[in-house]
Amino acid sequence: MKLLKAKSGLTGALTVPADKSISHRSIMFGAISQGKTTVHNFLRAEDCMSTIAVFKALGVDICDDGKEIIIEGKGFDHLQAPQNILDAGNSGTTMRLVLGILAGQSFHSKIAGDASLNRRPMERVMGPLRTMGGSLQGKDGSEYPPIEVEGSELSAITYEMPIASAQVKSAILFAALQAKGTTTIFEKEKSRNHTEEMIKQFGGEITVDDKTITVAGGQQLIGQEVTVPGDISSAAFYLVAASLIPNSNLQLNHVGINPTRTGILDVLKEMGADIQQVALDKQNQAADLLIKTADLKATEISGEIIPRLIDELPIIALAATQAEGTTVIRDAQELKVKETNRIDATAQELNKLGAKIETTEDGMIIHGPTPLHGGSVESHGDHRIGMMLQIAALLTKDPVELNNPEAINISYPNFFTDLYSLIEA
Ligand code: S3P
Repeated sequence: MKLLKAKSGLTGALTVPADKSISHRSIMFGAISQGKTTVHNFLRAEDCMSTIAVFKALGVDICDDGKEIIIEGKGFDHLQAPQNILDAGNSGTTMRLVLGILAGQSFHSKIAGDASLNRRPMERVMGPLRTMGGSLQGKDGSEYPPIEVEGSELSAITYEMPIASAQVKSAILFAALQAKGTTTIFEKEKSRNHTEEMIKQFGGEITVDDKTITVAGGQQLIGQEVTVPGDISSAAFYLVAASLIPNSNLQLNHVGINPTRTGILDVLKEMGADIQQVALDKQNQAADLLIKTADLKATEISGEIIPRLIDELPIIALAATQAEGTTVIRDAQELKVKETNRIDATAQELNKLGAKIETTEDGMIIHGPTPLHGGSVESHGDHRIGMMLQIAALLTKDPVELNNPEAINISYPNFFTDLYSLIEA
């Protein structure tokens, strides 16, 4: 696919798609609660449709009336044994969180993904679930999917997380809600807290004291109305595009600003970006973001901020190629086990366009500013790499050709239409 280049700045207003993490969880919480859950502004992208398909296969009534998603909750006790292998598609969030639910059920199940997901590590989830009494087995005794789960009675654990991962934490929390006793999780670094927030929203009790989370088993959750805010991880592409492209003046409506997700705002502001937050919606943790073009300077990104911007690092790396100075990203080894190895994919593809990025064991060193030129690039089947490359292509004089652009449908099916509505071609 030939990508568009920008002949003007990005102007106007855009409502970015709904948050992927919250959309997944809205289906999961709806299913395990009693009564009806209505989800407003659900993200109808491939990953979240995988979550809907999995819960339908577990006997949950889920209806899309074109506006809202309505879920008739079964509670933990009335999910049904699936007839076939559950299919998580490309979605790590679906597979890992669902494992935490399946582990405590009374039936046998098997869950698989696509080629990319079937290569992603699952021991990080299976290990703690086994300590709780769960019975989970990867393909041929490995940690890789398909995963077979023999439903078991679970007991609470005290677990110190070896990595910062909201997916692992959430799987343990879903298991903990079904377990005997009280589970305590010590987080290594604070990762996105949507599961903790939604346990409260659905009427459950959970204590969060900095990085210590405590939750009792045997709780009954109650169906709710959920409004999903815009996804800051999708907004990220526009935040960077509008910062880099001259004469931009853009408004992004109702973007989620949960503090466990806003690392990109902190980093871009530190780099000199002109971003303002207005129209705060406290209840849904959202705001409008106003972005104008700015000169960016290099920065260092490491430590506790990494989980707060882990999915945004490819697009931040692009911003760094246009910033004055050398940007260093450290402590981001988790990027290697995402939909693709995002350290290698980011460096390899941007370097094809003239960037100067060195990869390291746990991040990247990015020399800026470097003018980008045309070429042929590859999404690696990774939605975030694909979108980052389209933003890079806006900056080049000569055309950029993107292979496998359809990967973008995983999180943002209308990406090209939305982006093209903001620029003069
Ligand atoms: C997610 C957690 C993160 C993130 C992913 C979504 C979630 O993964 O990269 O896109 O919704 O919990 P890890 O938990 O592996 O860091």
